[in-house]
Amino acid sequence: MVRLESQVKMGFYPTPTEVVMHIRNMLKISPDARVLDTCCGEGEALSLLAEESPAETYGVELHHERMMQAKVRLNHVLWADALYDCVCSKEAFSLLWLNPPYDAAGMESEEKKERLEVAFLKKHWPYLQNGGVMVYIIPWSSLAAAVPMIAKNCRNLTILKFPEELFWDFNQIVLMGVKGRLKKSEIEHNQALLNSATGAFTKGDLDQVSSTDMVSEIFYEVPAAGDLESFTFRSTRLDPEQALIKLKTSPVWEKVHPKMFPPSLAKRIRPLTSLREGHLAMLLSSGMMNGEVTGPDKRRLVVKGSVNKGIIDSTEETETAIRYIKTDCYEITVRALSFDPPEIINIR
Ligand SMILES: C[S@@+](CC[C@H](N)C(=O)[O-])C[C@H]1O[C@@H](n2cnc3c(N)ncnc32)[C@H](O)[C@@H]1O
Repeated sequence: MVRLESQVKMGFYPTPTEVVMHIRNMLKISPDARVLDTCCGEGEALSLLAEESPAETYGVELHHERMMQAKVRLNHVLWADALYDCVCSKEAFSLLWLNPPYDAAGMESEEKKERLEVAFLKKHWPYLQNGGVMVYIIPWSSLAAAVPMIAKNCRNLTILKFPEELFWDFNQIVLMGVKGRLKKSEIEHNQALLNSATGAFTKGDLDQVSSTDMVSEIFYEVPAAGDLESFTFRSTRLDPEQALIKLKTSPVWEKVHPKMFPPSLAKRIRPLTSLREGHLAMLLSSGMMNGEVTGPDKRRLVVKGSVNKGIIDSTEETETAIRYIKTDCYEITVRALSFDPPEIINIR
């Protein structure tokens, strides 16, 4: 039941403000840093984290409404599935904040599937620059799956649990570390630390791990973002609402607009009898009704009709000969762009 609910909310369990503040106290963020939250929700955590710093904030969020909220709080926000739709420069960010949805990737045979938390970490790790700081928030039960990745790649590792009153919902822990190439001895040290933390949870010996409210010093310097020849941060997902805003300010719009919204001939022509469905289809496909249309239900559509000529080849055999026949055919297509909900409708 809890799992179903989590999937509906798409794993929206924002980091409590109190915990964000504890983490903020452990960081010293360079004014020239770029900080990234690849599952940013409404952007509250990252904006609070960088509140006292002029560092540029970047977020990615899949849920459209949350993404719109995040846009108000963060400098740059993408609407994207952070696992599949992001095109992002490697090693471009000084801090990676990752509090991903807590679930197994996929429904069936979950034991064999990689935990989502680990899939997100592996996918977004390349975005963090060497020397950059990771803040990774996951349920304690997912820690074992993340051990190999964290042990090999994080220097100066800290593992903290949420304060007691916040811990019991999901048993969340915060892992912090600095990205780097580690020596064998450092990896072994990390492994021992991580194994003791996973062991403590299995044994229910929770006091072995400190909580975020027990720490008061600054541990981590978030460096300035490194110089890059070019910087990319974009989504391959098209947001129709944003596309419309951009389109209307584009110089190309002035050229395209008269073609999409021609002066309506239909207004000047009054047929003697009302049109049948066939007539309407012909008008649509011939382009006579191109442009913005509002239906009786007040739904707005931008319509574009077209007719394409094709040829169908066929053969006919008689007793004495074979006839090769080419027949003209006309394919009628009507495309409509709907605003609410945003979608493209194709009728062939
Ligand atoms: C646990 S919340 C974290 C919110 C915020 N980062 C914080 O720390 O408070 C996870 C967020 O990830 C979003 N999410 C889930 N799957 C996603 C995906 N594939 N790509 C991007 N965001 C996703 C959810 O909508 C949710 O807002």
